[in-house]
Amino acid sequence: MCGIIGYAGARPLVPILLEGLKRMEYRGYDSAGICVVHPRGLHVVREVGMVSVLEKKDGVAAFDGRIGIGHTRWATHGAPSERNAHPHIDCSGTIAVVHNGIIENADALREHLRKEGHTIRSDTDTEVIAHIIESFYKGDLPAAVREATQILEGAFGLAVVQNDFDGIVVARRGSPLIIGIGKGEHLLASDLTAIVPHTDRVVYLGDEELAIIRANSLEIRAHDGARVSPQVEQVKLSVESIQKGSYKHFMLKEIHEQPLAIENTIRGRVLTDSVKLSIVIPNNLKRIVIVACGTSWHAGLIGKYLIERIAGVQVEVDYASEFRYRDPLVGPGDLVLAISQSGETADTLAAIREAKRKGATTAALVNVVGSTISREVDSGMYLHAGPEIGVASTKAFTCQVTALTILACWIKQQRGEPAPPALLAALRDLPAAVREALKTMEAVSVMAKEFTDTPNFLFLGRGSNFPVALEGALKLKEISYIHAEGYPAAEMKHGPIALIDKSMPAWFVAPHDQSFEKVVSNMEEVRARGGRVLAISTHADPRLTKLAEVVIHVPEVIDELLPIVTVIPLQFFAYFVADAKGLPVDRPRNLAKSVTVE
Ligand code: M6R
Repeated sequence: MCGIIGYAGARPLVPILLEGLKRMEYRGYDSAGICVVHPRGLHVVREVGMVSVLEKKDGVAAFDGRIGIGHTRWATHGAPSERNAHPHIDCSGTIAVVHNGIIENADALREHLRKEGHTIRSDTDTEVIAHIIESFYKGDLPAAVREATQILEGAFGLAVVQNDFDGIVVARRGSPLIIGIGKGEHLLASDLTAIVPHTDRVVYLGDEELAIIRANSLEIRAHDGARVSPQVEQVKLSVESIQKGSYKHFMLKEIHEQPLAIENTIRGRVLTDSVKLSIVIPNNLKRIVIVACGTSWHAGLIGKYLIERIAGVQVEVDYASEFRYRDPLVGPGDLVLAISQSGETADTLAAIREAKRKGATTAALVNVVGSTISREVDSGMYLHAGPEIGVASTKAFTCQVTALTILACWIKQQRGEPAPPALLAALRDLPAAVREALKTMEAVSVMAKEFTDTPNFLFLGRGSNFPVALEGALKLKEISYIHAEGYPAAEMKHGPIALIDKSMPAWFVAPHDQSFEKVVSNMEEVRARGGRVLAISTHADPRLTKLAEVVIHVPEVIDELLPIVTVIPLQFFAYFVADAKGLPVDRPRNLAKSVTVE
């Protein structure tokens, strides 16, 4: 959530800051701002809305300097307004701060600062940090930032500049910060996408570390002030992978990338008669607890079906946000598995920390290489889906389900049994099946236009296609702003059926698996009450044609992999409804790509 950029070097600064912010806009787009350190003082400019608005502000293009920071905001404390936009400055106007995260003791600190005579102009927790640094400042900016971080409670990724200081001071607790190493320059960003156009050499700042970034030097200090030698890593992320190319939206591009993304998830892991992973399964494995949020939680629900069915190990699936505060009953013999596209979701990270504290073994399925969750777990597996920029998760979901299938086979093997050969073959054929499923786009794009004014939807499915129903509903809600509920089809009779009328269509995820006949009965129940039925299936069946006004066909695959193909028409449906409504598909209101606050 929110994006931080920083630059120290000799190249023109403003385009680097603005371009970096644009690349991170998917992390928050309520307001944006930059600060450039100039010999005559700090130049700060902020604006509500997108970076494109900020860049048109008078004088911005002419800002000149060697050091600068910027921020794109997803509002937590204080409404989206210019007053609340970052960077925030202290009373003297000489210290500027950009911040990701939430300062939990901001109210108490604000009260204290007011009594001390500070003038606080915004409603944000970030401005408090600027004044705290000011109160500690005695001519040494890094020392003042260090002291300030010691009294801050909560999470932060901070970048601080001061008009007499020839660098940027950065500090981190929880929120990620990455330093890019160029020739005679250094960059700072909360997201790799803002760094890769400039350099592929990066340093991931560790938790509780503080860094001083100058054009020609990088100094990192640990919590106790001891010097840390920077671990430089080479990242493999192409600039094309973070561009939209010929697609209208990132979401559409990412839907189409699924065959390749899945191929990358499978590569080197699915062999002729076995799978190969490096996830460590405890010898005394009792059960698996999956922790995740949103779409990743839906993948986790499918993971339960997969792991219990394939490997015969009991699985529980928890919302990470609930797990972390429930004093969960986990410990040795439990494998707590985090699923996260970003690897930065605050609740999922906290759940993993809680599991570790209680002695469980931890693992993760993560997409973003080098992310905090991937660094903190005992072992893990990268999805290799490539950058997912659209706020609505698509390719990460199908890659997560693919990864969970491979993991289920791996657990089975670790328990001394072979992975099912038919499933291994089906995994190898999966990219081709997904390519086939993408052909539903045409039909879905046509029918979707009919539903732009529909206020409510039901999504129904059984077995591992119930989480697909949940996912279809979430996609529609988040980008089309249409109310939608996902339910196990059989649960409909226990309440939601009361909602059925012709203004509340129901999407049925109805592949020809063991539940097909039962799902058809559920369709009959909806039709009998005058409801509209839309269906996704693998076979042409006369009963479907009779009951459903639209039937979208996806290819037949082995039951375990059905969710990966049945979800695709629902991704398209949400996309085309939102696009037909003229909504900002990649940046839906109130949302941000990665939720790094509680
Ligand atoms: O990065 P994560 O997978 O941990 O993110 C979890 C959720 O925030 C995310 O899946 C969210 O629900 C998506 N916007 C759904 O499309």
